[in-house]
Amino acid sequence: MTFEEARAQFPVLERVAYLNAGSMGPLARATGEAMAAGLRADVEDGRAGSVYFERMLELRKGVRERLAALLAVPPERVALASSTSSGCNVVLGGLELGPGDEIVTTDAEHPGLLLPLAVSGARIVVAPVTTRPAAEAVDVIRAAVGPRTRLIAISHVVWTTGQVIPVNEVKEATGLPLLVDGAQSVGAIPVEAGAADFYTVSCQKWLCGPDPLGGLYVADPDGLSLASPTYFSQESLQVDGSFVPKAGAQRFDTGWLAVPSLAGLLAALDVAPDWRFERGREIAERCRERLVQAGFAVRTEPGQAGLVTFEPREGEPEAAAAKALAAGVAIRALPNTPWIRASCGYWTSDDDVDRLVAALA
Ligand SMILES: Cc1ncc(COP(=O)(O)O)c(C=O)c1O
Repeated sequence: MTFEEARAQFPVLERVAYLNAGSMGPLARATGEAMAAGLRADVEDGRAGSVYFERMLELRKGVRERLAALLAVPPERVALASSTSSGCNVVLGGLELGPGDEIVTTDAEHPGLLLPLAVSGARIVVAPVTTRPAAEAVDVIRAAVGPRTRLIAISHVVWTTGQVIPVNEVKEATGLPLLVDGAQSVGAIPVEAGAADFYTVSCQKWLCGPDPLGGLYVADPDGLSLASPTYFSQESLQVDGSFVPKAGAQRFDTGWLAVPSLAGLLAALDVAPDWRFERGREIAERCRERLVQAGFAVRTEPGQAGLVTFEPREGEPEAAAAKALAAGVAIRALPNTPWIRASCGYWTSDDDVDRLVAALA
């Protein structure tokens, strides 16, 4: 697949310099068509009968297998989730931590991780990675670890600064249970989740899937309590509610997921070319360089992932993002920061980057 062919799959790119995958990726025509076909079948044929139910189960199986392949882990250790946030809640709910326990996190986590941490019952210790160079992240996180640390919970790619945290090195350096928020990594950079104990996926961002869908890798499903069981958690159930859980991570599955969306996600996963990561890295770097050359204060260090964070030349970030959108450039203002964020994926062209720079000139 050529770059032009890859790009032509996304109708929005015909009009918009779409630099918003850090929030929501572009939807491919094939994704929309699969969702529309699924919805049409629901409307015309109804949502009933064994054929319908079997199809739903097949789609769930297919999505689980594809997410597992993306994470380079076995499908038996992947739960289906509705988002990264729901995956984090499954983990923090199941760990049953208390006031005598500590969780080490960073100073730039998204509410999707931070809020589950906040209600976990444990004391939260914040490692200041974003005020230090990216290369020091492992040392900064290790320095925050103490005798009561029961979990390290961090993003693989930080949603504000765009920095990549070498999560496997964190695991190696500490040997502690590790929950990785993969919202900004899966689909943007190569991921091997197997070193982590828990690793989340958001499908609506870099995987360009429908919303809301996600996944959760659990290295040792038997070692995590099932705090919020769903229909899909049980192999068999008694009238008093006692049940045999499903084997593996499937017991942590979020409840019903929209069947047309599951079909849409499978189509979306077929769309990505095998050169996705190489091209994504290249264009993010080019975007960074162009912004620096144009005189913007760029926060993201060289050689990170798909996010490029910088300060608008004038005005508040919200106003700058609105101005860019009016000029056909979709970017994101980062709340409570001086920054705006451009998300560069394999589909991003040089022209998109030029339009970004021109829109904010
Ligand atoms: C690092 C990070 N974590 C979590 C989330 C929340 O993702 P989801 O909507 O899949 O829960 C986001 C979304 O922007 C994010 O950037």
